Amino acid sequence: MSFKSRIAGVGGYVPENVFTNYDIEKMMDTTNDWIVQRTGIEERRWVSEDQSTSDLALKATEEALNDAGLDKSDIEMIIFATLSPDHDFPGSGCFLQAKLDLPGIAVLDIRQQCSGFLYAMSIADQYIKTGTYKNILVVGAEVHSKGLDRTPNGRAVSVLFGDGAGAVVFQRTEVNNEKTDGHILVSNLHADGEYAKELWLPAPGTGFNEMERISQKMIDEGAHYPQMNGKTVFVHATKRMAETLLNSCKQAGVELSDIDLFLFHQANLRINSKVAEILGIPEEKIFNTIQKYGNTTAATIPLGMRDAIQAGALKRGMLVASAAFGSGFTWASSIYRY
Ligand code: UT7
Repeated sequence: MSFKSRIAGVGGYVPENVFTNYDIEKMMDTTNDWIVQRTGIEERRWVSEDQSTSDLALKATEEALNDAGLDKSDIEMIIFATLSPDHDFPGSGCFLQAKLDLPGIAVLDIRQQCSGFLYAMSIADQYIKTGTYKNILVVGAEVHSKGLDRTPNGRAVSVLFGDGAGAVVFQRTEVNNEKTDGHILVSNLHADGEYAKELWLPAPGTGFNEMERISQKMIDEGAHYPQMNGKTVFVHATKRMAETLLNSCKQAGVELSDIDLFLFHQANLRINSKVAEILGIPEEKIFNTIQKYGNTTAATIPLGMRDAIQAGALKRGMLVASAAFGSGFTWASSIYRY
């Protein structure tokens, strides 16, 4: 018998607090025009002080379970992708597991930043295809706002990121009709650590010539805030996303024109437009959410999935292509029928 993985349910959650570009103007030396023209972002959600990454994940999970018509006890494994965990260790998956009251099941935390969800989805697919598990919860959740430099020094990075969570329950299925039955066709995962320091958060860490993971010197130098060489990331992102999408289509035996909806990572509207231009994809086939959420890293794709379903842009039976690129560098793509 050959098993495949289908999307059984999708959920998402964003915090209530909306910060428009005009709110950001009051914190940093930036303008609404700069942010909109360079990125497409109009507003983002930032948590209140009592909310953690696993809190956001819990809300997204509840919605995904409801959408799947499953009970939490059906979940046999949690894969949690985040770069902004509740605490350094253990991973946020364990905190989410405790909040769900699901003791004993397997929990795996992964990083992979903006590519985190697609990596996690591929891992879930492997466990399902081998027959190990029937229902796996994959969550991407981020609380960026508590780690951003909100002073004028942080404007190059801090205007870009928002908080949110997305969750998908992947379920074992048998595919009778490739053209209609929901399943993951192909995933491709990549990384190139040569560029690790082009987009990174240096501290806390053991990679300093110091005996403490965090020191006053690191804080004084802002090493506990994310740092990015935006132009380098931009150039690599467009090239790699286009490349991996073509590879995935080829492996899946589909043409780009067969894809009904493109759910890309949301780092910059201009990146997605450039990928569309390179590949000749009509812009109306791309579902973007960056305008209202900013870049929510690992949460972006599942949150986009949830919003696309709610907007009627993603319907059962549609063929979807996702691609992401981010810190690591890591990048990935996946072709799946919803
Ligand atoms: O998901 C993770 C992956 N991340 C990405 O994919 C991000 C990829 N990169 C980008 O999206 C773009 O590079 C950015 C949106 C980050 C920046 O856009 P850019 O067109 O590359 O701008 P830049 O960094 O070259 O900066 C242009 C100017 C600079 O001023 P000067 O040197 O020309 O006087 C910056 O200092 O814009 C200035 N600047 C700002 N001005 C107003 C930088 N940040 C801001 C800001 N507001 N927030």
